[in-house]
Amino acid sequence: MEIGSVKQFFKGKTILVTGATGILGKIFVEKILRVQPEVKKIYLLLRASNHYSAEERMYDEIIGKELFKVLKANLGGNFGSFISEKITAISGDVSEENLGIKEENLRKEMMEEIDIILNSAATTKFDERFDVAMRTNTMGAFHVLNFAKNCSNLKILVHVSTAYVCGESEGLILEEPLRMGQTLKEFSELDIEYEKKLIKEKLNELKAEYANEGIITSKMRSFGIERANEHGWPNTYVFTKAMGEMLVGHMKENLPVVILRPTIITSTYKEPFPGWVEGARIIESLTVAFGKGKLKCFLGDIEAVVDVIPADMVINAIMVAMVANSNKPCDMIYHVGSSVRNPLRYIKFTEYGRRYFTEKPWIDKNGNPIKIGTFKVLDSVDSFQRYIFIYYLLPLKVLKLVNAICCQRFQKLYLELNRKIQRGLGLVGLYKPYLFFKGVFDDINTEKLRMAAMQGEVEMDLFYFDPKMIDWDDYAMTINIPSTVKYIFK
Ligand SMILES: NC(=O)c1ccc[n+]([C@@H]2O[C@H](COP(=O)([O-])OP(=O)(O)OC[C@H]3O[C@@H](n4cnc5c(N)ncnc54)[C@H](OP(=O)(O)O)[C@@H]3O)[C@@H](O)[C@H]2O)c1
Repeated sequence: MEIGSVKQFFKGKTILVTGATGILGKIFVEKILRVQPEVKKIYLLLRASNHYSAEERMYDEIIGKELFKVLKANLGGNFGSFISEKITAISGDVSEENLGIKEENLRKEMMEEIDIILNSAATTKFDERFDVAMRTNTMGAFHVLNFAKNCSNLKILVHVSTAYVCGESEGLILEEPLRMGQTLKEFSELDIEYEKKLIKEKLNELKAEYANEGIITSKMRSFGIERANEHGWPNTYVFTKAMGEMLVGHMKENLPVVILRPTIITSTYKEPFPGWVEGARIIESLTVAFGKGKLKCFLGDIEAVVDVIPADMVINAIMVAMVANSNKPCDMIYHVGSSVRNPLRYIKFTEYGRRYFTEKPWIDKNGNPIKIGTFKVLDSVDSFQRYIFIYYLLPLKVLKLVNAICCQRFQKLYLELNRKIQRGLGLVGLYKPYLFFKGVFDDINTEKLRMAAMQGEVEMDLFYFDPKMIDWDDYAMTINIPSTVKYIFK
């Protein structure tokens, strides 16, 4: 595999990006504009009622972010005109055919011009409504593929999936495609059309019962988890992402398509500057709970590998993969993570948290530093259930009894505590598979890509994606935890 200059590859190209208001999409847009200002055009497909609102979202939620400060500084007064010249925000929605782009002329123009597509749009909520997740993660992938097929000059489509389409697999997880209809359970087959039919029926049933929007949402969320579990996936997100991959793999024909599966994305390692992050996900949520002294127990295998990868490395891998696979029918799958080449364990992660917040405690709203207490490690579901029973369910039962004796005087307190416990248990249920995860992600394809990039003309100082270069201690203490404190602690 010969890989030429990445900067050169993007020169004069027209790119369509979906999911650009998300963390990954934004970093991609910033990187292209900064390293190759001679890119021809970037179309951003944004959910909005019209193109004006799409443009507004582009400025508010993408270009206006601190992420763009380096580019802004580089361009000075020309920043505004550069952005208007290079970026076109269009209103659309991946869950619709033709990506919801209503104007025929615009669609035609895009289909003639586009060279590259990055599909990063997704709903990333683990317990999203089944209908919403199916429309976005499964049918969205299909609609982007169909759009790509109509692009006469298309060189490459990169579909961003997730490494966790493997469910709760153990051991070395290979960069293998998911077969259409495959499930994670023995003797079960998956039919995407049947799942869509079930969704339709469920919605009709709820409508017939005059269920309100709140009830519909709650029922459709549970339904997603139920269907995911039925086929062996732990949640609706990874189940619908897996079905999206199946459709892309099965329907791609001769199109050059790459499926890239990142693991858990964390704050940037180096570019545009170290430590940019947005939104609290699994790792940031743990850091916040830790720093605020709310982590009373850690449910999970403390020795398990937590596969995290900085967002800029994922984007670099995407860009190099685009160059390497363009213009040839391919269906490459790349895992982009750290668990094989530079594993980090939860135990280290908690040590970093303890060290950081002991040195620099978070100050509570009364101006007092929060002390990091000890937290209990619950390394099995049994010990977790015992803990929950003693510290939460038992006091709740006592409160219920007292409340009944005292003529419901403590009803509000009881309901509030009950709500918190149920919510906590729900979250634990969703995160549990990742806290006890026993797999590591093989990345032979990604390693081959890295080798070819190093031997070719790739500017490796700009397009680094080797997890071995990360010193976890330094990354956690000087980049990741400070950035979580800066952008995510409230
Ligand atoms: N973050 C991670 O740790 C991680 C790990 C592995 C894989 N991934 C994958 O990486 C990709 C990007 O993730 P992310 O973390 O950047 O996601 P994110 O921050 O949750 O953003 C999701 C993006 O998708 C857009 N989107 C959702 N539904 C859409 C629709 N129907 N039509 C058009 N756009 C839609 C959202 O737009 P709105 O602003 O309109 O909602 C947003 O721009 C996803 O495919 C995800 O599955 C992420």
